[in-house]
Amino acid sequence: MALLARMTKARLFRLSVVVGSLFMILLIIVYWDNVGTAHFYLHTTLSRPRGVLPTVAKEGSRGSFSDADNFMEELLDSPHGLDPARKTEQTPLRPSSRPLARHLEENIRGYDWSTRDTADTLDREKLQAERRRTLRELCADYNFTFPTKDRSFDDIPNYELNHLIVDDRHGVIYCYVPKVACTNWKRVMIVLSESLMEQGVPYADPLDIPREHVHNTSSHFTFNKFWRRYGKFSRHLMKIKLKKYTKFLFVRDPFVRLISAFRSKFELENDEFYRRFAVPMLKLYSNHTSVPTSVSAAFEAGLRVTFSDFIRYLLDPRTEKLAPFNEHWRQVYRMCHPCQIEYDFVGKLESLDEDAAHLLQLLKVDHLRFPPSYRNRTASSWEEDWFASIPVAWRRQLYKLYEADFVLFGYPKPEHLLKN
Ligand SMILES: *[C@@H]1O[C@H](CO)[C@@H](O)[C@H](O)[C@H]1NC(C)=O
Ligand SMILES: *[C@@H]1O[C@H](CO)[C@@H](O)[C@H](O)[C@H]1NC(C)=O
Ligand SMILES: *[C@@H]1O[C@H](CO)[C@@H](O)[C@H](O)[C@H]1NC(C)=O
Ligand SMILES: *[C@@H]1O[C@H](CO)[C@@H](O)[C@H](O)[C@H]1NC(C)=O
Repeated sequence: MALLARMTKARLFRLSVVVGSLFMILLIIVYWDNVGTAHFYLHTTLSRPRGVLPTVAKEGSRGSFSDADNFMEELLDSPHGLDPARKTEQTPLRPSSRPLARHLEENIRGYDWSTRDTADTLDREKLQAERRRTLRELCADYNFTFPTKDRSFDDIPNYELNHLIVDDRHGVIYCYVPKVACTNWKRVMIVLSESLMEQGVPYADPLDIPREHVHNTSSHFTFNKFWRRYGKFSRHLMKIKLKKYTKFLFVRDPFVRLISAFRSKFELENDEFYRRFAVPMLKLYSNHTSVPTSVSAAFEAGLRVTFSDFIRYLLDPRTEKLAPFNEHWRQVYRMCHPCQIEYDFVGKLESLDEDAAHLLQLLKVDHLRFPPSYRNRTASSWEEDWFASIPVAWRRQLYKLYEADFVLFGYPKPEHLLKN
């Protein structure tokens, strides 16, 4: 009788363990459904046969929920990552609706990359390895410092993660840097993630996407939006995605980027930049007490900020006190966090065509054509002319301000501009 009772107890115990585990699983599922308004969306994981439940059951019976990182990682063990062979399940993209003539035009312009040879690819890979190594070594070098270098990823505030665009379908993260072909890379990200529809059908050709939609933040899923969707799991998820996905950014000579920003925001009529930045500059540095309220009126009156006003504004300690630099002239290290995020691919605007072709090939999406830029690109050779009006002392201060970007991304110090 006693034996029987003990057996029953043992059985009861086992039963309660099983029931308990099931209850935990249920709890997790229900909880996740409640996190944010959207459900737990990870396309590839959910569509795979060895999906969520078996993993949860295994983990549940081990009762190891405390280590959320490991748990989430196992749960999300998706086919993404750098290994291109593991990337599967990409739905074929629909053919472009654009007329053939325009395609032809771009091919004639030399953007047909179908005839790349392998020696070239090897060189490109070596170059990328070198850029990655430079970043790694500089980030580990105590002698090389810049603000925010030593903080951890967890200490980066959410709003500073707003330049990281995520594509879960292909496992890609792009840190966009304004004035470095970012419109076109954002277009590519929209096509890859199918995040924007035209009459219910996702865009298939980057060139079809209208410019105003490209820069609308609601067209992109960025890291700073994770909180709303994933709640308290957002940091864990970010870290897992950063580990598994292919992360890239494009950079450019920092001084040339500034010239480019000045040209597009202050030489062309831009009402927003006129009101937000040109008006304060005119009042502070050009001794104007009243300035027109619209950019067209100002241009008619011959009132324009000069490149020298712009540089003075950047060097003015009051500027950063009022608000962080606008993204068009904010340092790359402040937007992309190259010491907290280990980038797999660092492209340069100076070699945009080759780098774009290489990257699309790495991402296994080289059926996409990277949009050629027809616009009048700011050339490095103009640098001397542009800086001719800037005192050498200012140039040196400006170099200090952007030094981390110069060094991290392998741009040589512009000695010719910095000596008397
Ligand atoms: C830092 O600089 C010192 C002297 O300039 C050098 O001896 C040391 O090796 C450097 N440290 C690193 C990590 O490069
Ligand atoms: C951005 O897109 C959203 C959704 O499509 C739209 O409601 C909003 O008006 C757009 N914003 C701008 C500035 O165009
Ligand atoms: C600014 O304008 C005022 C009045 O027109 C003048 O007295 C002052 O000297 C000017 N300051 C500079 C720096 O030009
Ligand atoms: C490009 O811009 C420069 C300076 O803004 C100008 O001098 C040149 O004429 C432009 N070229 C074309 C083809 O528009």
